[in-house]
Amino acid sequence: MDRIRIVGGNELRGTIPISGAKNAALPLMIASLLTPDTLTLENMPRLADVRLLMRILTNHGVDYAIDGKRPGDMPTSGQTLHLTARNIVDTTAPYELVSRMRASFWVIAPLIARMGEAKVSLPGGCAIGTRPVDLLLMALEKLGASIDIEGGYVIARAKGGLRGAEINFPMVTVSGTHTALMGAVMAKGHTLIRNAAREPEIADLAKCLNAIGAKIKGAGTSEIEVEGVSGLSGARHEVLPDRIETGTYAIAAAMTGGDVMLEKARPELLQAGLDVIEKAGAKVTVTNEGIRIQRNGAGISPVDVETEPFPGFPTDLQAQFMALMTMAKGTSRITETIFENRFMHVAELSRFGAHIRLEEDTAIVEGVSKLKGAPVMATDLRASVSLVIAALAAEGESTIHRVYHLDRGFEQLEQKLGACGAIVERISDPG
Ligand code: EPZ
Repeated sequence: MDRIRIVGGNELRGTIPISGAKNAALPLMIASLLTPDTLTLENMPRLADVRLLMRILTNHGVDYAIDGKRPGDMPTSGQTLHLTARNIVDTTAPYELVSRMRASFWVIAPLIARMGEAKVSLPGGCAIGTRPVDLLLMALEKLGASIDIEGGYVIARAKGGLRGAEINFPMVTVSGTHTALMGAVMAKGHTLIRNAAREPEIADLAKCLNAIGAKIKGAGTSEIEVEGVSGLSGARHEVLPDRIETGTYAIAAAMTGGDVMLEKARPELLQAGLDVIEKAGAKVTVTNEGIRIQRNGAGISPVDVETEPFPGFPTDLQAQFMALMTMAKGTSRITETIFENRFMHVAELSRFGAHIRLEEDTAIVEGVSKLKGAPVMATDLRASVSLVIAALAAEGESTIHRVYHLDRGFEQLEQKLGACGAIVERISDPG
């Protein structure tokens, strides 16, 4: 199992190209099941989750091709992926695959929309809470599907096809909104989704669905309207930049000090995050190239944050921001409102000498003047990168174990940080 070794203490200086967003890429790939024509996705990140989802989709009958290198391509240029679901050969998504990635459960919506049936194992994914799927199933039931749960599988049927409906989500859910959208695009009639998630990845999926012939209005707001169409075609779509990767490197630069240009990053995808990073003492400048983060000399100020659905401060940056606050000049409170168990990084950050205590859904972080390198264990995707951030600023050497979590969501992390002066290397154990 690979480890990452980091020698802390260097400022980050240079340019980091931001990749396509993992959490947009996954639902976009899943949307290819809706059409017999080719969906071409540009700016795809090279990630373990993308490769795993490709395997899952091929199981349903999706053919894929990846463009080879083109003149001028950099190692960090996004990939172009062509997905064609000419015939769906299998409507079952087995436990062995779905249990490894929660988002793969979402295949349930296009499968039932196109084939009138789907049998999908209940999901797995990062250990950040119980993460039920009741609201996804509620959305499909509203659209006319019958749902049974047998032997760990959800069996959804709608032999006569799905029907447009009004879907009111009692809480904001990204997975629920993706499911409702993919279920509604070919349902007969009109669908209204209320209290929809407003995350940019939802708007990106809707943009792509509209490009293949869907009729969706209002994506990116809390009310989405869908007029069902009888069939969908192919299109090209460019995946939007990853706002969580952007925020992660912005926080890393704020943590170590220095001057980093986050190339291709878009501020409107992360305004709440950038505001908080600025309050913590970094200078944020938006340019045509991307977002520049500088912290020269000034200390890190404590800032209280509470995670919220978009456009609020994202839960996917909570762990990284906590790492930054461990070295703030004072005490900060970080409240997690989206997932009930997303504090696995607290114990690991403490190994660097951080002072954090938990009070229910709030972490109280007392800043310390220095962190010391330590061996630590990655627990989930965002938690593991918070350990990388702490290690970059800690005195001496750190080793981060179980880096396969990082590979799920961060493309070329060592190369991107290394190019900015960090001492980071991957150590692969034989066998
Ligand atoms: C998406 O997860 C992201 N995953 C997560 O990113 C992200 O943390 C989350 O949205 C919130 O922004 C992908 O896009 C692949 P939800 P998702 O449905 O869709 C509860 C990462 O690190 N809920 O918005 O699964 C749920 O338990 C990952 O990249 C129900 O109760 O999140 C949670 O408390 C981790 N019933 C809240 O809603 C349901 O049926 C929000 O979940 C569905 C959700």
